[in-house]
Amino acid sequence: MRLTFGLTWVAALVGSTLGRPAAQEDSAVSYVDAETGFTFSEYKVAYSLSGNVVFRVATPAAAVQGQPFDIVLQIVSPTSGGWAAVAWGGSMVKNPITMGWANGQSTVVSSRWASGRTLPGAYTGATYTKLSNGNKVNGTHWQLTVKCTGCSAWDNIRLNPKGSNRLALGYANAKVSQPSSNTSSFGIHDVHPYWTQDFTQGANPNWDALLVRNGVA
Ligand SMILES: *[C@@H]1O[C@H](CO)[C@@H](O)[C@H](O)[C@H]1NC(C)=O
Ligand SMILES: *[C@@H]1O[C@H](CO)[C@@H](O)[C@H](O)[C@H]1NC(C)=O
Repeated sequence: MRLTFGLTWVAALVGSTLGRPAAQEDSAVSYVDAETGFTFSEYKVAYSLSGNVVFRVATPAAAVQGQPFDIVLQIVSPTSGGWAAVAWGGSMVKNPITMGWANGQSTVVSSRWASGRTLPGAYTGATYTKLSNGNKVNGTHWQLTVKCTGCSAWDNIRLNPKGSNRLALGYANAKVSQPSSNTSSFGIHDVHPYWTQDFTQGANPNWDALLVRNGVA
């Protein structure tokens, strides 16, 4: 499917800055998710004075620096907003972007990549599998939980499973145009803070067993 190119996007991008550091200076904490059993490195990113998006990153304890590794990502975001996305290289362009949003009572994940400051297109270098647990929508939040293969390595860049990585948030109040489609068009983010997240808090020695427990072979 061809992605339409929103004129509002282009207009809004003119004069767009490269983002700013996340308002919240807290470091990552370790969070054990009873539902999936994964231990995550958790970081709460403020998108306003009162709201935040929670990013949780789980990695295999056996992951080695300099080599690609799988990531289990959990995003918790308010249903009052439109969509939330993480850019794995910490800026909008030329890195894998994981977008999520709610579609009724279910969650949608979309794999994107922006070559320039334009609407990010579909990215086939990363593949996603939803876990059988941890995907839900209630009155206030949607929660996405996916395994990503391809989020930790692109071009000659390798994220460090044993240290800190700079990530960036894209967050918009407006909904995507077609919530049921993972290739939906969408408007520009309203905020795009970046932060540095230590992945060591999210190391899981029992990685394979946890995936099986969550329906991922
Ligand atoms: C949309 O989902 C299909 C089926 O899972 C997948 O093959 C495709 O890569 C996804 N596209 C995006 C942009 O995430
Ligand atoms: C709604 O879901 C979020 C994310 O899973 C959770 O943090 C929150 O406690 C839930 N709220 C209620 C009222 O269950």
